[in-house]
Amino acid sequence: METVLVTGGAGYVGSVCCRQLLDQGHKVVVVDDLSTGHASAVPEGAELHQLDYADRSEVARLLRHASIDAVFHFAAQALIPESVLNPGRFFDANLAGAIGFLEVLRPFGVKRFVFSSSAAVYGDPQSLPIDEDQPKSPVNSYGETKLMLERVLDWYARAYGWNVVAFRYFNASGATEEIGEDHQPETHIIPLLLETALGERPYFEIYGDDYPTRDGTCIRDYVHVADIASAHLCALNRATDAGFSAYNIGTGKGYTVREVVEEVERVTGKSLDVRLRPRRAGDPAVLCASPAKLVRELDWQARGSNLEAIIRSAWEWKLKHPEGYAAPQVNSVA
Ligand SMILES: NC(=O)c1ccc[n+]([C@@H]2O[C@H](COP(=O)([O-])OP(=O)(O)OC[C@H]3O[C@@H](n4cnc5c(N)ncnc54)[C@H](O)[C@@H]3O)[C@@H](O)[C@H]2O)c1
Repeated sequence: METVLVTGGAGYVGSVCCRQLLDQGHKVVVVDDLSTGHASAVPEGAELHQLDYADRSEVARLLRHASIDAVFHFAAQALIPESVLNPGRFFDANLAGAIGFLEVLRPFGVKRFVFSSSAAVYGDPQSLPIDEDQPKSPVNSYGETKLMLERVLDWYARAYGWNVVAFRYFNASGATEEIGEDHQPETHIIPLLLETALGERPYFEIYGDDYPTRDGTCIRDYVHVADIASAHLCALNRATDAGFSAYNIGTGKGYTVREVVEEVERVTGKSLDVRLRPRRAGDPAVLCASPAKLVRELDWQARGSNLEAIIRSAWEWKLKHPEGYAAPQVNSVA
């Protein structure tokens, strides 16, 4: 059994990961300021500490009382349009805050670190599917903060003997029985479509249908949130030699926006009002990842990541929680 400190464990991906850690018998200590997460998403059995992971003195106080074996770092500012308008806030929160956090961890001898990076580190891909060696050229400050923190962690691995895994997520999606996606504001395609299906939004907007793809709309790689979480468990179970490794978490298969709309219509049985808008700046035509390295080196398998299963799970969760986590129930706040 390991004790894992999970920053952002009240968020969408982090809370699913906490569930899987607990199911495998690990102890889970969550640090989350609840800025975008929900106390009631933290599974029972995990210990929730409501604080900013960049608060050095509070995190040090926590570390003095908990013996941490590994850190899973999910917490971040992640709204891409905001990162374009306000890069300073992103560098401060995602990079400066994170470096302070690493410096607090160091004297406590915590050397195993798993970081939620992003497809945004690549920018416009040079070839498809994207493998980890492609050039990194972020087109927004969010992606730049992820890439810079990867670089920082690489130096920690070299100099301090840390064992670091960076996972570059593509589109996290879907739900488990307990945990679903509830971001405010919501910007992700599947929850937006489901809100439209339930009449919470009057229509759904497609940004551009003149891309060089099979129906002109953008192609993205959708991965079930439980498959993303399970990659973290694979990282925890692997050898603990010093070093830095980065892995894509994708399926290698992409769907167009129109295909996602059609699948949502099939699953929900609702016909959606879809309106076409001009392209948005900074949207690559196709983002699709090769998971070959993750499969080969960490023995990862995608189990629930086909589009129909993803949408069905998200729809079932939405029907059970039409207002998301609007009425929070706190499991345990330390
Ligand atoms: N969801 C995706 O499709 C996706 C894709 C690529 C990368 N990622 C990355 O994965 C991670 C998790 O994403 P998510 O969708 O679960 O996001 P989320 O917003 O649901 O979760 C983030 C959690 O971090 C917490 N948090 C934010 N700043 C904090 C701080 N300073 N101190 C303590 N807690 C803080 C929030 O309250 C929230 O609970 C993020 O790092 C994100 O950049 C997500």
